[in-house]
Amino acid sequence: MASSTSIKSRHVAVIGAGAAGLVAARELRREGHSVVVFERQKEVGGTWIYTDHVESDPLSVNPTRLVVHSSVYDSLRTNLPRECMGFRDFPFAIRSGESRDPRRFPSHGEVLAYLQDFSKEFGIEELIRFETTVVRVSPAAKTDGGERIGNWRIESTEKEKKSHHRDEIYDAVVVCNGHYIEPRLAEIPGISSWPGEEMHSHNYRLPQPFKDQVVVLIGNSSSGDDISRDIAGFAKEVHVASWSNPADTYIKQTGHNNLWMHSMIERVLENGSVVFQNGKTILAHVIMHCTGYKYDFSFLDTNGSVTVDDNRVGPLYKHIFPPALAPSLSFVGIPCKVIPFPMFELQSKWIAGVLSGLIKLPSVDDMLMEIKNLYATLEGEGVPKRYTHSLGINHFEYNDWFASEYGCSGTEEWRKEMFLTSFMRKMEHPETYRDEWEDHHHLVAQAYQDFSLYISTKI
Ligand SMILES: Cc1cc2nc3c(=O)[nH]c(=O)nc-3n(C[C@H](O)[C@H](O)[C@H](O)COP(=O)(O)OP(=O)(O)OC[C@H]3O[C@@H](n4cnc5c(N)ncnc54)[C@H](O)[C@@H]3O)c2cc1C
Ligand SMILES: *[C@@H]1O[C@H](CO)[C@@H](O)[C@H](O)[C@H]1NC(C)=O
Ligand SMILES: *[C@@H]1O[C@H](CO)[C@@H](O)[C@H](O)[C@H]1NC(C)=O
Ligand SMILES: *[C@@H]1O[C@H](CO)[C@@H](O)[C@H](O)[C@H]1NC(C)=O
Repeated sequence: MASSTSIKSRHVAVIGAGAAGLVAARELRREGHSVVVFERQKEVGGTWIYTDHVESDPLSVNPTRLVVHSSVYDSLRTNLPRECMGFRDFPFAIRSGESRDPRRFPSHGEVLAYLQDFSKEFGIEELIRFETTVVRVSPAAKTDGGERIGNWRIESTEKEKKSHHRDEIYDAVVVCNGHYIEPRLAEIPGISSWPGEEMHSHNYRLPQPFKDQVVVLIGNSSSGDDISRDIAGFAKEVHVASWSNPADTYIKQTGHNNLWMHSMIERVLENGSVVFQNGKTILAHVIMHCTGYKYDFSFLDTNGSVTVDDNRVGPLYKHIFPPALAPSLSFVGIPCKVIPFPMFELQSKWIAGVLSGLIKLPSVDDMLMEIKNLYATLEGEGVPKRYTHSLGINHFEYNDWFASEYGCSGTEEWRKEMFLTSFMRKMEHPETYRDEWEDHHHLVAQAYQDFSLYISTKI
């Protein structure tokens, strides 16, 4: 963007060096801001850093537990084609190298390697303080000769440092802490006297420990779906309970002779039985909650300006700025059911432009009004609060709005095409969609031609 005397360079703290924090740091620096990234792990990549470790509390509810950040399991492969998943101007192309995975739906290690490549390519690592945890973020009204010079106080602790507590002032904070860490659990009548084991998918890594067991999974979205098939290869029986299934659902999953779909659990009994709404009763060893996660910003002290209510983070203008604290506080990556990386990139460009003063925000009242209207629309459509940030197909329009504000191109046609095609293929062939990709389908072929053209201008 063109330089001008009115452009302000800010001192910005970015919390987290996952995909969101990495691209936020890059876009902020590109815009001329000075950036410090705080990352409590010792490398970049966030949730894509696979680890064998799981939390001591398999349900991840004990507040004193040692938190393990990653939710990735050993067999995990992406649920989006790599081309579609990558950042807009750093294609997730096939790279040579011993440990690289050239598949279209690669394993988690390939995504981590891609994020490491991104970080190297753009020199992001020099901005990151690793093994540094942000413990508190609070408003600061520090003044210098009457001029307000800082908006946010950041307190952090560094691992293995003598004077490990640091207290600093920044002009702005961009929160990129991820939201697949704090589990959401299903409520199950009778669970307190059920004798089996309970866990959350956050602590699932490998199927072998479930050998010969009877396992009940709750939830059949991405992780429930993947994990049920993973475990079915070892367990005696796998039963998936889901609210989204009608009450009489009882279906044997095709391609498996030990995997059943049920309606939700009605209750569990002291003798180990699990009773489903469809009237079936089974004796189970394990119940695994594949019920997703909650947004959590426990380090953030805004005196009530930002709250999380039934998983609605708000009020947030465009799912990014709390109006009362804009633009000095922002969030990247709140929306879900989206293509994450390119969305993070566009959100970050917009935030960087707003912070420098090149892009103007509406008045606080106008922002609050837009949020009120969104809530009213959702309520009118009967959408529960917890789906406020679930954008789905609307996320293309959402992305394109940022692109037009910033002055760059919107979502590429080939990306939309690939996303929609893979979504449909996944619905129709959940078992094989990752490996049997119909390249000959003319729309997909066109999409790939466009992708190759695009790649040739980028690498
Ligand atoms: C099981 C699973 C499968 C997925 N599959 C796909 C897929 O196939 N394709 C896809 O595009 N997306 C997928 N996703 C979505 C994925 O979350 C995003 O791709 C993306 O990695 C999110 O990046 P993030 O930076 O927002 O969060 P994260 O990757 O979680 O990074 C947040 C970072 O913030 C750090 N942090 C948090 N709190 C603090 C603190 N207080 N102080 C310092 N540092 C802190 C953490 O250590 C972490 O490194 C999947 C997610 C999960 C959980
Ligand atoms: C959950 O399972 C049912 C079949 O029992 C299926 O119709 C539905 O599409 C599944 N949901 C997801 C998100 O896979
Ligand atoms: C468990 O208790 C229920 C209710 O009393 C009973 O119907 C069921 O047969 C019992 N199951 C086992 C395995 O004991
Ligand atoms: C916090 O909010 C309350 C109620 O809105 C207000 O009275 C109080 O002054 C605020 N405190 C600070 C430190 O801003």
